[in-house]
Amino acid sequence: MLRTHTCGELNSKSLKEEVTLCGWVHRRRDHGGLIFIDLRDRYGFTQIVLDPDNKETFSVAEKVRPEWVLKVTGPVRKRLEGAKREDNPTGEIEVLVEKIEVLNESKTPPFEIDQEKEINEELRLQYRYLDMRRARMQKNLSLRSKVFQIIRKYFVEQDCLEVDTPCLIKGTPEGAREYLVPSRVYPGSFFVLPQSPQQLKQLCMVGGMDRYFQLARCFRDEDLRGDRQPEFVQLDFEMSFCEQQDVMDIIQGSLETILKECSKKPLKGKKVEKYTWQEVMDKYGSDKPDLRYDLPITDVSDISDGCGFKVFEDALKNGGTVRALCVTGGSQLSRSEIDRWTELAKEQKAKGLAYILFKEDGPQSPLLKFFADGYLEKLQKAMGAKTGDAIFFGADKFKTVCAALGKIRQESAVRFGLIDDSIHSMLWVTDFPLCEEDEDGGITFSHHPFTQPCLDEWKNRDTDPLGVHALCYDLILDGYELGSGSIRIHNPKLQSEVFDLLGISKEDQKKRFGHMLKAFEYGAPPHGGFAYGIDRVVMILAGEPNIREVTPFPKDQKAKDLMLNAPSTVPDEQLRELGIQIKKT
Ligand code: AMO
Ligand code: AMP
Repeated sequence: MLRTHTCGELNSKSLKEEVTLCGWVHRRRDHGGLIFIDLRDRYGFTQIVLDPDNKETFSVAEKVRPEWVLKVTGPVRKRLEGAKREDNPTGEIEVLVEKIEVLNESKTPPFEIDQEKEINEELRLQYRYLDMRRARMQKNLSLRSKVFQIIRKYFVEQDCLEVDTPCLIKGTPEGAREYLVPSRVYPGSFFVLPQSPQQLKQLCMVGGMDRYFQLARCFRDEDLRGDRQPEFVQLDFEMSFCEQQDVMDIIQGSLETILKECSKKPLKGKKVEKYTWQEVMDKYGSDKPDLRYDLPITDVSDISDGCGFKVFEDALKNGGTVRALCVTGGSQLSRSEIDRWTELAKEQKAKGLAYILFKEDGPQSPLLKFFADGYLEKLQKAMGAKTGDAIFFGADKFKTVCAALGKIRQESAVRFGLIDDSIHSMLWVTDFPLCEEDEDGGITFSHHPFTQPCLDEWKNRDTDPLGVHALCYDLILDGYELGSGSIRIHNPKLQSEVFDLLGISKEDQKKRFGHMLKAFEYGAPPHGGFAYGIDRVVMILAGEPNIREVTPFPKDQKAKDLMLNAPSTVPDEQLRELGIQIKKT
């Protein structure tokens, strides 16, 4: 090794030792003839001192600039009383440099490494290797590594086999677009990068692996948001001969272990609550509610029948619902804030956002003139609204109302500081509908097509396909969907029936999923599993606003790697080999 110690290691126990350190010049200060340098590596900072009496070392030190790489040797000595720094573990000592070697020089970095001020993200991503030298990234990537280790240890202790499944596979539907890899050997044919190892882990169960886990890389070509990347890492888990609760217990145990070891915040409540999908949608308008605050939604359909306001009455006539949210203190909201919230509700496909503000001098709302006698009083009573509060309404199909009021619930919590940031809130959501209507009015799966339907309801699938629930469960942390799982279908006939319901022709079933149907004919055990996004877990633990901050080399919000400049074009020769011709647009 070029060094005897790291830059975070020395303290008053090391006095007089002769040491050699390597690191980057973090800061250089010239003081009354002496030069002080904070030498930095991943472990910390050590102050090194250069005395002008040592002409050779001093003249080198005069030249060095931030981010140069140095190797220095000398004795450890106590700092002068006034120069001690209690906030630094090496703050009591310094190294008097007797030998100095410049291992490498550095251009002036495009941003300062030693300051925690906000830096343009594009620049940070272009120079991710410099960004990584900053405290924020060092902290986040250490945390990420720790979470990986905890997960690995935990699942090995649960008697799971770590099986690494391939990335060059066939499509696995999880609801996103897929990344394709053209085959040179079979021109015109493609591998598909896995959206998750879903099918392979199920095939491991057919293979008798019994309990499997993997820190699995997944690829999804979907619209990016703060909590999504085109590639990300899942803790992927599967087990045989189990019921839903068995999977939930093991997964919950892993997250409780991670939280205990990596977070100072306790979990809210004595136990992790379980809610059905219907319960959380009714009460919070979301299948991933943040329960660090309450703010429930109320169904006011009954009292709104005949209320006089046509929008509400029409929604009810068309089989929809009228629901409302009472926001304490909401009457202070300005006109422009309400306009912005109305736009947010419209982004969720709502037609508007009706409201009443309970001002000191009485209720204020463009709707009051429409209300039938007594309706306002009934509403106020049902909602418990007081002077100073506001009520917001959604009147539409159930899902639209949930989406709009769920969004307004979130906005209200942020606007009025309702989120208790000193705790974590974790909950399970179960009993999702198996299918949902897609945008063209057809039926698509809610989770993925391998999820087992509730068999009592399955009988009615022809008459009420949307009424069939699934044996599936999501885990929510602080309002983020951490992960999903389900009991799987292991019977080829049932699997084929589910594909039928999803409108996948027998021919397509054979082409796309023939391997699954075939495997299930060879003694597939009952099995189930789960996967959670590790990036999301680390993001929440680190208190970061998006997963790019905890991903070593993320893509930007337009799915581009700014450092590597990828994706990029490739030489024509490579395309020719693959039998690919690019159509110029
Ligand atoms: P699902 O599609 O719900 O389930 O994914 C599980 C979890 O993976 C994380 N995740 C993502 N993280 C970052 N960027 C993305 N683009 C992204 N997409 C998903 C989320 C999500 O909850 N095979 C099933 C699991 C199973 O049934 O066992 C699956 O992948 O945290
Ligand atoms: P309108 O009659 O369309 O001018 O709407 C009157 C008020 O009701 C406005 O504040 C709209 O934002 C609101 N509104 C309209 N449609 C809905 C709806 N479906 N749900 C909730 N509020 C609505």
